[in-house]
Amino acid sequence: MSAKILYGKEFAAQIKESARIEIEKIKNKFNVTPGLAVIIVGENPASQVYVRNKHKSCEELGIKSVVVEMPESTTKKELLAKIDELNADKTIHGILVQLPLPNAIKSYSDEILNRIDPMKDVDGFHPMNVGKLVTGTPALVPCTPAGCIEMLDLAGIPIDGKHAVIIGRSNIVGKPMLHLLMARHATVTVCHSHTKHLAEITREADILVAAMGKPQFVKADMIKPGAVVIDVGINRIEPKKLVGDVDFEAAVEVASAITPVPGGVGLLTVAMLMKNVVTAVKLQIGA
Ligand code: GUN
Repeated sequence: MSAKILYGKEFAAQIKESARIEIEKIKNKFNVTPGLAVIIVGENPASQVYVRNKHKSCEELGIKSVVVEMPESTTKKELLAKIDELNADKTIHGILVQLPLPNAIKSYSDEILNRIDPMKDVDGFHPMNVGKLVTGTPALVPCTPAGCIEMLDLAGIPIDGKHAVIIGRSNIVGKPMLHLLMARHATVTVCHSHTKHLAEITREADILVAAMGKPQFVKADMIKPGAVVIDVGINRIEPKKLVGDVDFEAAVEVASAITPVPGGVGLLTVAMLMKNVVTAVKLQIGA
């Protein structure tokens, strides 16, 4: 038996269409055009692709998109000054600093992200938004894990009471995913590089989320027959070959549903960013 393949494209289109309708309403009712600023520092090729996709989606949906390209040599002080400027700019409702930052300023990533006005923090990385997520009053939620939940909902896959296992404990995916799944009444286990007997735990999962950044790490014998497998990994193993954290060809024979890479949850991340821009505008104009 072969799993149902959850293509991100269809789900992303639905999320973007809802965002487009909301944006139109905001324009008509409040005479406000939503604005997103994306800051990219240096020339990381993957980041350049992501930023281009975000810009394209904004244009499709009627969001003003400002891409701020800063050189590799940018100092922490210069970047903070740019964030301050965008925080004060009334035409900008969302600010995103594309990660990873160049090595020279990478160690200041927290300080830099914390400088973004929490109301404009469309990545949901600011401690205030992290705190709201943990305490169950989410405002702006990280796009990738939020997209995974949205996709499960749109696909009609129940979460309540299920055992969800997450592999990976990053601030961007693993940790917020834990809170989103727990808020939806899943029983959640988080595994990571120090977890013992990993396969025994993942074989218990009704919903398995792979988000640890190891190409094709999750094999068929780590998956319970009939489980739903969400692959958040994006790994380049050859110049032109992208693979996820799951061995897709093998897993597709065991799972009941699975996301492909590319073409899976990655597309939802951008769609959820658009949704977060709408949420941010509403927070700021009191809609
Ligand atoms: N780099 C990889 N994923 C992300 C993300 O969700 N947000 C930002 N800002 N950078 C990223």
